[in-house]
Amino acid sequence: PIGVFDSGLGGLSAVAALSSLLPGEDVVYFGDTGRVPYGTRSKAAILQYARQDVAFLKRQGVKLIIAACGTVSSVAGEVGRGCGLPFVGVVEPTAAAAAAATRSGRVGVIGTAATVRSGAYEQAIHALLPAAQVFCRPCGLFVQMVEEGFTSPRDPVVQAVCRRYLQPLVAERLDVLILGCTHFPLLREAIGEVMGPGVQLIDSGRAAAEYAAGLLRQKGLLSGREVGGTSSFFVSDRTPAFCEVADRFLGRPITEVTQVRWE
Ligand code: DGL
Repeated sequence: PIGVFDSGLGGLSAVAALSSLLPGEDVVYFGDTGRVPYGTRSKAAILQYARQDVAFLKRQGVKLIIAACGTVSSVAGEVGRGCGLPFVGVVEPTAAAAAAATRSGRVGVIGTAATVRSGAYEQAIHALLPAAQVFCRPCGLFVQMVEEGFTSPRDPVVQAVCRRYLQPLVAERLDVLILGCTHFPLLREAIGEVMGPGVQLIDSGRAAAEYAAGLLRQKGLLSGREVGGTSSFFVSDRTPAFCEVADRFLGRPITEVTQVRWE
């Protein structure tokens, strides 16, 4: 299988993209729901969690690992790169998609506090487009809102938080906004309403899934099946919201979720 992990539910945006791109591939997903959010933690804690997440997926015998988490990819990418398996984080593929999409060179990035503090997206965008102007804002509450199922663009709470976080970015006249945290695609509609139709939103989970699909093809690691891939879901805490929100992420019901117990 392909291994995918995140601090919680957000990485399911990458699983949804993988299922549409490579419907014949098996996927093992791990969501560290017992320790979400990562984005408010220290680098030392994020490194430790990332090591455990990667080790768990390796024990499942995966052929490639996707860190479908902006925070891990920005702060602890070295854990994945040193894991001995093909590894894909979200930062580089998403920066490449944004660099290809922007016309004005004015690119926004929203993510967790740890992601924004790391400067990883700016660095990756500037490596491709040195003249780009990059505007970053942490939007940590979005993670908690998604984990709790607050995603409707009609919900006044969602609208108020989106306006509060995004208004300063509206003033920057962006043409591309990176959803640099994999939880944020569930708020796409609400974010789009504040940013306006002239701003293209780039989904980091999807960008990572597309990159991973290309890498598997290039390395000859695809299963060869066109359909019938299975998905298994593991979490570190079976939270009441998991299945409900997961269904919305994936657009299909999740029937079985296994709880992992750390030693
Ligand atoms: N999906 C994670 C990310 O992309 C959520 C962050 C968190 O756990 O705070 O950053």
